[in-house]
Amino acid sequence: MKGVTVIAHPLVQHNLTRLRDKRTQPQEFRRLLGEIASLMVYEATRSFATRPTSVQTPLAPAHGFRIGRDVVLVPVLRAGLGMLDSILQLIPNARVGFIGLKREETTLRAQFYHKSLPKNLSRFEVILIDPMLATGGSAVAALDLLAEQGAKQVRLVNLVAAPEGIRRVRKSYPKLPIFTAAIDRRLNNKGYILPGLGDVGDRLFGT
Ligand code: PRP
Ligand code: URA
Repeated sequence: MKGVTVIAHPLVQHNLTRLRDKRTQPQEFRRLLGEIASLMVYEATRSFATRPTSVQTPLAPAHGFRIGRDVVLVPVLRAGLGMLDSILQLIPNARVGFIGLKREETTLRAQFYHKSLPKNLSRFEVILIDPMLATGGSAVAALDLLAEQGAKQVRLVNLVAAPEGIRRVRKSYPKLPIFTAAIDRRLNNKGYILPGLGDVGDRLFGT
C-alpha cells in the first residue's frame, strides 16, 4: 500500500511473533514491545532532515550532522505508552505530548479523555505512536487533533495495522507516512485485528 512501510527486519518480525503469542505475559510483553519500538523508530526516522554542523574532536575539526527539527513524540494512551520509553532512549531530547483515547465497545467510536500537547506543533517533527491501527477511528481522531494544533510533519508508527484502518487513515490523510510491522488480515465483528495481538492495553498492563 502506498505510503505504508512494512518493517520486515528479522528482529522486528521475531519480536512481533513473540508479542502475538498468547502465552507471553505482561512483563515480557512490555520488554518486547519496547524493543520493537526502538527498531521501528530507527526506520521511521530514516528520512528526517539533518543539518550540517562541525565539532572539534580531540585531534581535529570534524564535519557532522544534527537532526534538523525538534521532535515531539505523541503516544496514544494507554497502549502507546508501551512504546514511548524506548523511543525516548533514542531521541532523548524529544518533547512528549499525550492523547488519551478510548474506543467505545459497541460503537467502536474513539472518545477523547486527555489532551496535552506542546504549543506550536508546526515547527516539530511529530511521531504519533499507537501499537494498533484497527478501524482507524483513534488514529484519525488523533491526527485531526494534531492538525488542529498546527502539526505539518507527522508520521504514524503502529505495530500492527488492519487494511480497514489504513484505508480510513488514507482517506483523510493521503500523504501521511505510516510505519508498521505487519498488515494483518482484517477486523473481526468486535473491531479486533485478526490475527493481531488481542487487546494490547490489557496485555501490557495485565488488566
Ligand atoms: C486501542 C489501541 C488504539 C485503538 C485502535 O486502544 O491502542 O488506540 O484501540 O482501534 P481503532 O483503530 O479501531 O480506533 P483502546 O481504545 O482499546 O484503549 P487502551 O489503549 O486504553 O486499551
Ligand atoms: N485495540 C487492540 O488493542 N487490539 C485490536 O485488535 C484492536 C484494537
